Amino acid sequence: MHDANMAMSSRSLGALAAFVFLCTAASMSSSMAATDSFLQCLSASIPSQLLYTQSSPSYTSVLDAGIRNPKFLTNTTRPVWIITPTNASHVEAAVLCGRRNGVRLRIRSGGHDYEGLSYRSERPETFAVLDLVNIRAVRVDAASATAWVDSGATLGEMYYAIGKAGGRIAFPAGLCPTVGVGGHFSGGGFGMLLRKYGLAADNVVDAVLVDAKGRLLDKNSMGSDVFWALRGGAGESFGIVLSWKVKLVAVPPTVTVFNVPVTVSQGAIDVVTRWQAVAPSLPDDLFIRVLVQGQRASFQSLYLGTCDALLPVMRSRFPELGMNRSDCREMTWIQSVPYIYLGSSATVEDILNRTIAMDTSNKATSDYVRQAIGRDTWSAIFGWLARPNAGLMILDPYGGQIGSVAEAATPFPHRGGVLYNIQYMNFWSAAGGGGGGAAQRAWIRDFYAFMAPFVSKDPREAYANYRDLDLGENVVGTGGVSSYDAGKVWGEKYFRGNYQRLAMAKAQIDADDYFRNEQSIPPLVAGK
Ligand SMILES: Cc1cc2nc3c(=O)[nH]c(=O)nc-3n(C[C@H](O)[C@H](O)[C@H](O)COP(=O)(O)OP(=O)(O)OC[C@H]3O[C@@H](n4cnc5c(N)ncnc54)[C@H](O)[C@@H]3O)c2cc1C
Ligand SMILES: *[C@@H]1O[C@H](CO)[C@@H](O)[C@H](O)[C@H]1NC(C)=O
Ligand SMILES: *[C@@H]1O[C@H](CO)[C@@H](O)[C@H](O)[C@H]1NC(C)=O
Ligand SMILES: *[C@@H]1O[C@H](CO)[C@@H](O)[C@H](O)[C@H]1NC(C)=O
Ligand SMILES: *[C@@H]1O[C@H](CO)[C@@H](O)[C@H](O)[C@H]1NC(C)=O
Repeated sequence: MHDANMAMSSRSLGALAAFVFLCTAASMSSSMAATDSFLQCLSASIPSQLLYTQSSPSYTSVLDAGIRNPKFLTNTTRPVWIITPTNASHVEAAVLCGRRNGVRLRIRSGGHDYEGLSYRSERPETFAVLDLVNIRAVRVDAASATAWVDSGATLGEMYYAIGKAGGRIAFPAGLCPTVGVGGHFSGGGFGMLLRKYGLAADNVVDAVLVDAKGRLLDKNSMGSDVFWALRGGAGESFGIVLSWKVKLVAVPPTVTVFNVPVTVSQGAIDVVTRWQAVAPSLPDDLFIRVLVQGQRASFQSLYLGTCDALLPVMRSRFPELGMNRSDCREMTWIQSVPYIYLGSSATVEDILNRTIAMDTSNKATSDYVRQAIGRDTWSAIFGWLARPNAGLMILDPYGGQIGSVAEAATPFPHRGGVLYNIQYMNFWSAAGGGGGGAAQRAWIRDFYAFMAPFVSKDPREAYANYRDLDLGENVVGTGGVSSYDAGKVWGEKYFRGNYQRLAMAKAQIDADDYFRNEQSIPPLVAGK
């Protein structure tokens, strides 16, 4: 439709209007036919107030409430239907009706996918969004230090419930409270506790899955390869995870937070160069990440203990930072969640807020560093960050628990030997719409090319939860399933040698490739 309209644009308005009318009428009648049978099928099991078509008055508000990047509000293929199930039977019915009527489902939990794949398609496609916003209970059992967390909960809702249940339990997952549990756990999930306790996915002990046959499965009935795949193999590929059982982790009653900014003129190049050697081998209780933006590196830290205990560690291990007692902020772990992400005036209640500011669009990508980058290169990097339209870098140190798990133990392969993860991000005003940000996108592309010699190679690794379609997209091959070989291009960057086992797990649970998107795991039938 877009191409056809563009080609027509030089003709007379009258001819254009007639063409658009015919074209719209034709596509409406075909999707109306599908609407009828798919909707009829859904209506037999799902209350009508949980179903939306493009002509429903609240279609746009329901869809847009889960869009977290304004560049995807316009100029993209939107779903024909939205389903907002409230229980597992509705989800099973959606899968069965979808398969019967040739309608694919995109699954949305928190909607933070960097490419918006939970609610939009890069290519023209007739699909429904299954939005889990109504399936978001968090049930904490403090006595056994476990919780069942539904996929539609946000990280903030999960942390809040854990905080209410007791002062000494926590969970190791991401920083941003509006991120959804469903996508985050599927792709790994890490935050300030990663050196002490690893990934969110490393702490998942059971899960409830609706598969492509509409069956409701748990850890035992889905089989060990599929349960392995769910914990880091990224969302959409294996079915719909409704709920996750997690192990909670121990934190002391007092933690210490600091944020020490160092400018280039104060020696940031030397301090960042030194940080690479220090941060990945500190005691596991101490996590120091770096936000590098403009001519400043901000060292942001969470320490599992008091300021008195932290100061001697900083003095002996990282004196170059010049951190001292006045930088310490002592608080409880749950207070550190809003403090670190939302700022010093935010309250614990603020992490329940599911609304985010939508004034900028963004583009992100990632790298892994296995060999420290030289001082001269850091000097050049600060040059890139000083250019017009530059974005920022976040450096998350690994080592500790995240690095001690074997590479094949979970799908997430960036373990032993990784010094740190780099996230690159750039922003532009949302007023530019879907086509804005050309200069900012060019900066990130060119900077990523510049970084190639200094980061991991063969494959150049990337984090699946920082999805980037510039790394490659699926090709649907013969038999109507995504091609395993074509998927290697992006799949081995996210999963290294685990890509093959993921593809075999996919063949076990969804050989027809019903659940798919531009970067879902293709099925690989053993022996092929
Ligand atoms: C502002 C921001 C901050 C972030 N901070 C961090 C961070 O600190 N640490 C970190 O590790 N990552 C972080 N991320 C990345 C984040 O972990 C991923 O984007 C994650 O996939 C988002 O999950 P979601 O449920 O919100 O997204 P969605 O867009 O809903 O889903 C992401 C993908 O998973 C699929 N999916 C969603 N739910 C399910 C389900 N229940 N079953 C099966 N498949 C499903 C979707 O179809 C989609 O393909 C951040 C992202 C943003 C935008
Ligand atoms: C789900 O909700 C429907 C009502 O829409 C109800 O009939 C059904 O029993 C519920 N299923 C479960 C498993 O709770
Ligand atoms: C502590 O560090 C701050 C900056 O982080 C600095 O302003 C202050 O002078 C330092 N104090 C001491 C006693 O070193
Ligand atoms: C939730 O966050 C949004 C965006 O920051 C803000 O505009 C809104 O006021 C917040 N809502 C509440 C209830 O705090
Ligand atoms: C729409 O998207 C295409 C492809 O992503 C892009 O080239 C184009 O500039 C966008 N147009 C607008 C008006 O946003």
